[in-house]
Amino acid sequence: MSERKKLVAGNWKMNGSLAANQALVQALRQGVGQPACDVAVCPPSVYLGQLQQLLAGQTAIALGAQDLSQHEGGAFTGDVSATMLKDFGVRYAIVGHSERRQHQGETDLQVALKVRRALAAGITPIVCVGETLREREEGLTEFIVKRQLSAVLHLNGHAINETVVAYEPVWAIGTGQTATPAQAQSVHAVLRAQLRAAGAQAEHVRILYGGSMNAGNAAELLAQPDIDGGLIGGAALKAPDFLTIVAAAA
Ligand code: 13P
Repeated sequence: MSERKKLVAGNWKMNGSLAANQALVQALRQGVGQPACDVAVCPPSVYLGQLQQLLAGQTAIALGAQDLSQHEGGAFTGDVSATMLKDFGVRYAIVGHSERRQHQGETDLQVALKVRRALAAGITPIVCVGETLREREEGLTEFIVKRQLSAVLHLNGHAINETVVAYEPVWAIGTGQTATPAQAQSVHAVLRAQLRAAGAQAEHVRILYGGSMNAGNAAELLAQPDIDGGLIGGAALKAPDFLTIVAAAA
């Protein structure tokens, strides 16, 4: 039995509206009960205030952000700082999602700096790593995910024990083409070995899987020894699907 409590986090990406968020959170609150795992929802930052209010008075569902600035504050137009997120009761922050690496050109170093900023503010970073289809086909999967995690390890040392890692193969995101449980498990084991070799308390660090995880395939993925939860995109926008995944993690 793993000593790690599973975590299921919904990454809403750039979806939602005041009305849709309200309906979704209401359904999640009604259905979630007393989950045996940790649960979080990560709305677009403009809705964090709304979500803080919608989630008030309960502890089953925590609030997460999708990104944060590597800077503390000042002249960084459009950015949101870790301290500001903390102000809104944010408990987790996704860092280095492949969509940000791809579309915003985020580098391994920037990701590592963001992780440091989150940790300093008392926010748990969910650090995303993952290879593209081409990298997988070229046999580079291990090399890529280890390079991405190593930048974070290098800058953050033992503070890595306070982070969550998410393995999200880029080719599985939003494609319906989920990694098989064996494919995912094997990369998770590589990441845990890397954490161990770096002197982290590897048995305590949660490693989530993300990439077309849904109500139908979650149980099998979550049964793997090194898969400690899920980072859910599309299926997190439908309350029954998200709640099914939460139940599968219990
Ligand atoms: P999908 O679940 O939509 O594939 O997205 C996964 C993801 O990118 C979560 O961060």
